Amino acid sequence: MTEAEKNSKTQSKTQTSKAPHYPSYALLGLYSVVLLLVLLYGWLSTRPPSTHTSSSQQNTQHDQFARVRQARDKLDRQLKIEADARRQVARSTPVIQAKPDHHRPCFPVQPDSTKVIINKKHCFAPLDWSPTDLQMVEPGHMLRAEAAAHYRAMQHAATEAGAGFSISSSYRSYGDQVTTYNYWVDQSGKEVADRVSARPGFSEHQTGLVVDLRVDTCYLQCFAGTPAYAWLKRNAARYGFIQRYPTNLYHITGYDTEQWHWRYVGRHIAQDMQRKGIQTLEVYFNVAGGNYV
Ligand code: DAL
Ligand code: ZN
Repeated sequence: MTEAEKNSKTQSKTQTSKAPHYPSYALLGLYSVVLLLVLLYGWLSTRPPSTHTSSSQQNTQHDQFARVRQARDKLDRQLKIEADARRQVARSTPVIQAKPDHHRPCFPVQPDSTKVIINKKHCFAPLDWSPTDLQMVEPGHMLRAEAAAHYRAMQHAATEAGAGFSISSSYRSYGDQVTTYNYWVDQSGKEVADRVSARPGFSEHQTGLVVDLRVDTCYLQCFAGTPAYAWLKRNAARYGFIQRYPTNLYHITGYDTEQWHWRYVGRHIAQDMQRKGIQTLEVYFNVAGGNYV
């Protein structure tokens, strides 16, 4: 055997004896590491939640309970307000029903505002409400302060223009209206009375914002033919007054035409109605009118 052959044999022996050992150790090491990693991952993913996670869950639950409690308290408060409102209505209903038999069910109205609508469907709450700022404008005739100031100015301007007038009726209390309505019932019967006179608790006169006007002894229908009426048609809105019961609008206002009955609503509304050609408060404010319920 040559030297070269010997070397080649030794080399191939060395290769055949060492080659199987290197891969098996490396693979074994690699398998072990992978196995350890798999076991570690499995243990981490299956172990019970830590105490920290559990307490944050408890906090979340606590917040949810607090929100539910707040919502329930809010609902309780709301229900209490509604119950109080129902008791209030329940208290006021017998008052309305306990009054004389000519009363009708109605929507009660808090009458402080100069924009208030009182008609056959909307009554005073309480029925015998009265204003606290009445002023004498002519002997025996009172209006609320704001209406009084504007009436005086209007009356002065009309007189200057040669179309003067004075008051035949203005503020009437609940008791006054009992007398007035009963007068009309005695005169003409209930059906006619209801076309020309409001039942007590349903009359605009009780607002202290209304005047019935006359020229000397020319009252009611007679007033329609006077220069005073013609002047008012042109100028009253500038002073905040409107004719409350115009012609042919019985189905809206609930009353026959009354040229003498003027209602203070304030200059802004009166002139706006005039500009828009709207004749009634019911249409202007889009509220129910017409007959009693
Ligand atoms: N004449 C009106 C409608 C009243 O009695 O109030
Ligand atoms: Zn009147």
